[in-house]
Amino acid sequence: MAVNQSQLGQMFEQVLRLSKVDASQSVAILKSHYSDARTVQAATDAALRLGAKVYSVELPSFNHPTAMGNDMTAYCGDTALTGNSAAQKALEAADLIVDTMMLLHSPEQEQILKTGSRILLAVEPPEVLARMLPDEQDKTRVMAAAAVLEKARMMTVKSAAGSDFRAPLGQYPTVTEYGYADEPGRWDHWPSGFLFTWPNEEQAEGVLVLDVGDILLPFKTYTRERITLEIEKGFVTRIHGGFEAGYLRDYMAYFNDPEVYGISHIGWGLQPRAQWTAMGLHDKNDGMCMDARAFYGNFLFSTGPNTEVGGTRKTPCHMDIALRHCDVRVDDLLVVAEGAVVAPAASLAH
Ligand SMILES: [Fe+2]
Repeated sequence: MAVNQSQLGQMFEQVLRLSKVDASQSVAILKSHYSDARTVQAATDAALRLGAKVYSVELPSFNHPTAMGNDMTAYCGDTALTGNSAAQKALEAADLIVDTMMLLHSPEQEQILKTGSRILLAVEPPEVLARMLPDEQDKTRVMAAAAVLEKARMMTVKSAAGSDFRAPLGQYPTVTEYGYADEPGRWDHWPSGFLFTWPNEEQAEGVLVLDVGDILLPFKTYTRERITLEIEKGFVTRIHGGFEAGYLRDYMAYFNDPEVYGISHIGWGLQPRAQWTAMGLHDKNDGMCMDARAFYGNFLFSTGPNTEVGGTRKTPCHMDIALRHCDVRVDDLLVVAEGAVVAPAASLAH
C-alpha cells in the first residue's frame, strides 16, 4: 500500500510542529540523489506551511570502497559531508535539519548538534513513517524509562536461551529516541521509540545468546539458529554457533579493525507500533528497518562506534542486534520481563 502525498505532508506537519518548527525557524532539507523524493517534497511543503524559512542542501552521494550493501548503517563514520566545510556551515545555520541522506555516526553530525541545530532523520519509506507517526505519548513513555536509566549503575540481561550479561553504567549519557527533535542540539529519528546508553569502557562482561528469530542488522536477517557472543572487558572475544555465527564472524573480521568488537549502545525497545514481523514484509533496500530496533520489549545491543557520545571508537562496522524474550534489569528494577515491558509504568504503552 502507498501513502498519498497529501497524507504524507500532513504527517510531516505534525512531526515538524512537535519539533517546534514555526515562522521564526529556518529549516534545511539535507538530501542526496537517493533520498526519497516523496519525503523531500512533503518535508519541504510542511515546513513552508508552518511559515519556516526553508532551504535545501543537496550533496553528491558518497560510497566508501569497503562498504558492502546499500543499508545506510553498513558503513559508519564518513559521509558525503566529510570535509565539505561550506555545506557544513550551511547546515549549522539551520534551526532544524530534516536529514533524508543519513549523517548518523559521523563527527560532522556531532559538530552540527553542538551549535544548537536540531536534526530529524527521516530515511524510512513513507509507509513506515505513517505507521509509526510519533506523538507526545511516545516521548512520555521513553522519558519515563530514561529517568530510570540515567540514574542506573548497572544493566543486566538474562534469557532462557542463555544470555547472562552485565554492563556497569555511568560513564556515558542516556540517549532517547522518540521521533521528533524538540530541544536545541537534539538529534532524533522518525520513526523510533527506544532508549539506550553505553557500558563503561572495558567493563561489559558475560554472554549474549541470539535465539531463533532474533534480528541482525544491517544484515536484515532473522536468526534461524543460536549464535553465542562471549564478552570480556567490553569486547566480543568469541562468536560461536553454526553457519550464522560463522557468517557474523567473517563479516566483522572483514573490517580488519579490533574496535569493531567493542560493545556499543545497549537499551530496550518502547514503540508499540513497531513490529518484530515487519522486516519479513520488506525488501532489504526498503530503508534501515527501524521496526527491528524499536519493537516493544526487545533488548537492543550493538557493536562498534561510540563517537556520538564522545567515545574514541570511530569504526565503520556497526551491528545492531535485537533480542526477544530477555529479562532486562537496570540496577534492581526489572524493566523488561521475558520480552514484555513491565516498568516503569507499563500502562504508558498505549
Ligand atoms: Fe545502532
